[in-house]
Amino acid sequence: MVERTVVIVGMTGSMGSQALEVIKKMGSFRVLAGTYHSSFDKAQSLAKEYAVEKLICTKDGYEELEAFLEQRRPDIVMVCIPGFASLPVTLKALRTSRRVLLASKEALVCGGWLVKEAMKETSCELIPLDSEHSAVMQLYEPSVERILLTSSGGALRDWKLEDLDRAKPEDVLRHPVWKMGKRITIDSATMVNKGFEVLEACELFQLQASQVEVLIHREGLVHAAVFLKDGTIKMHLGFPDMRVPIAYGLTYPDRRYEHRKWPNFAETQLRFQQVEKCRYPAFYLAYQIENDYAKRTAYNAADEVCVEAFLQGRIRFTDIARVLAKVVEKIEGTPRDLQDLKDVDEASRKLAEEVIEWL
Ligand SMILES: NC(=O)c1ccc[n+]([C@@H]2O[C@H](COP(=O)([O-])OP(=O)(O)OC[C@H]3O[C@@H](n4cnc5c(N)ncnc54)[C@H](OP(=O)(O)O)[C@@H]3O)[C@@H](O)[C@H]2O)c1
Repeated sequence: MVERTVVIVGMTGSMGSQALEVIKKMGSFRVLAGTYHSSFDKAQSLAKEYAVEKLICTKDGYEELEAFLEQRRPDIVMVCIPGFASLPVTLKALRTSRRVLLASKEALVCGGWLVKEAMKETSCELIPLDSEHSAVMQLYEPSVERILLTSSGGALRDWKLEDLDRAKPEDVLRHPVWKMGKRITIDSATMVNKGFEVLEACELFQLQASQVEVLIHREGLVHAAVFLKDGTIKMHLGFPDMRVPIAYGLTYPDRRYEHRKWPNFAETQLRFQQVEKCRYPAFYLAYQIENDYAKRTAYNAADEVCVEAFLQGRIRFTDIARVLAKVVEKIEGTPRDLQDLKDVDEASRKLAEEVIEWL
């Protein structure tokens, strides 16, 4: 089997380290480089365990990574870093590799049109790693009329509404289904993560947000469904395990990963419920800003600031939605390029900090 070269951006994170595990299990991939931001010790021990040839630190900027991608032109780049920083990295990866595996939905939320332009200029493939979007990709056909994405509802899904104000970081970080990085875990409880995923799905599958339904599904077994014009519904099921979509992205269109574990339907109940507006107000913002990249960038930037502030104990859990609504309302603009988006990102962060001060 031909050996394919891989660079993992965000190797020390939850997605990055699961990717290394999958690569080791499947063989026939060579990890040319992995990046870390602050976890030097973890990066070193992963590099040793998984034979990663080079470590790149991104704390002081992305120049070394960009130069490496230019020079080595890997077959595959996995982008697994949170936030706006993922957008310029994704654009560079699309121009220097043959396949980008995208975990960082924020790149499409903020700069979806830039990502699509970069794809048109090159022959690079873009494969989503989010389990829901990987599922839709596997189910997709031209007669799709609408899609369903499922959500766990996050750690506070069963809390009384009046108690949400009191939720502490350790409560919110206790995700009922997935073990992930801190930001996405907090974003699961506010369902901002699912708001991002609605926008991501629109970009990937040429849909309007009104064609993307989201339901809470506690069992985490159904990842997505597509509704076809002849009345057929195709659903994608499997145990929640990010190693499966990672492996699929690496080996697409083949399926080489072996993991013979399936739910027993005779003993399984599949439940779906509506996403309550009063519990998840920040989720519904995504539907209002679908056609406005300035507000989408503001939505992400304000959320990054709020998650950090919540983890530091500076704001309450319920303040996150308040700050997001305010920042998204105030930020306006028509970004034309990456620099414009960077300016919007910076202005939104500043505004989010100001709104937090006024709370
Ligand atoms: N975890 C999942 O199951 C999952 C599923 C679907 C999609 N995603 C998406 O994948 C992305 C990563 O999520 P995760 O859960 O793997 O996060 P994570 O565990 O927090 O890991 C983040 C990774 O990015 C690095 N990093 C942090 N800030 C950075 C910055 N400003 N610039 C460059 N690198 C930075 C970290 O390095 P250090 O550790 O060295 O600081 C780490 O390697 C997010 O966009 C998330 O939404 C995650």
